[in-house]
Amino acid sequence: MIVPNLHQITVEAPDVAAAVEAGQFVIIRPVEDGERIPLTVSDWDRENGTITIVFMNVGKTTDTLSSLTKGSSLSTVVGPLGKTMDIDHYGTVLCIGGCYGIASIYPIARALKQNGNSVITMVEARSGYLLYWLDKLRNVSDRMVIFTRDGSKGSKGHINRLPEVLSAIKTPINRVIVNGCNYLMMRGSQETRPYQIPTIVSLNTLMIDGTGMCGVCRVTVDSKTKFACVDGPHFDGHTVDWEELAQRRKAYLKEEVLPVMSSRPYHTQLGNRPPIISQT
Ligand code: FES
Repeated sequence: MIVPNLHQITVEAPDVAAAVEAGQFVIIRPVEDGERIPLTVSDWDRENGTITIVFMNVGKTTDTLSSLTKGSSLSTVVGPLGKTMDIDHYGTVLCIGGCYGIASIYPIARALKQNGNSVITMVEARSGYLLYWLDKLRNVSDRMVIFTRDGSKGSKGHINRLPEVLSAIKTPINRVIVNGCNYLMMRGSQETRPYQIPTIVSLNTLMIDGTGMCGVCRVTVDSKTKFACVDGPHFDGHTVDWEELAQRRKAYLKEEVLPVMSSRPYHTQLGNRPPIISQT
């Protein structure tokens, strides 16, 4: 656990590590009779054959995954899947990450930097203690912008202050890339629309096979049905049907969360979060 409720695992998967590029994901099944879930590859080491994944504990399967100890084996690791993020020389690119997206934006920012772009990275969290990988991100960014909702680190606020960030950056922004929860990506896309800045989001949908066969990952983009696993996961955020995406995302919420909620005392689900109200 790198910050409360967010976990980082390094998996020995040489074939995946040899082929993965920025923006791709793997399908993982932690145990033999478990469910398959898609998780973005946030870093990799081709020489040692490992991939690194940061994920949030949101339900039964991620709970199982987070409970595995060092040296455990995973039943399934399939990948790399999905299209790679388009990386070109755009000029100045604003990379935005929140939650697990702070990790998944890292290889994208790194690839953009390696392609000669000026990279500005903006991260946001509810509080400073929920931020991580800041040094890694600084190493691949020309500039960092940090927001916390409580103002404990960086500026106070969240994605709603994106217009201020855009106007404070004196050079034109040629592209915005947003990784994180669907709300962050939706709101980021809404905020960049008036400025007509191309905005790419990496959608989090339910998936089963991750190879275009089951149709579970359907999304509507530009009024057309797309499969997030093979047509994406990267899409133009200005043309995504966000409402439909949110509805589909919630389809199995009860089945995901209930087994975890009923199996543990509430405080153990929150990790080592500092008390919000101090006791005197
Ligand atoms: Fe099955 Fe995309 S996950 S078609």
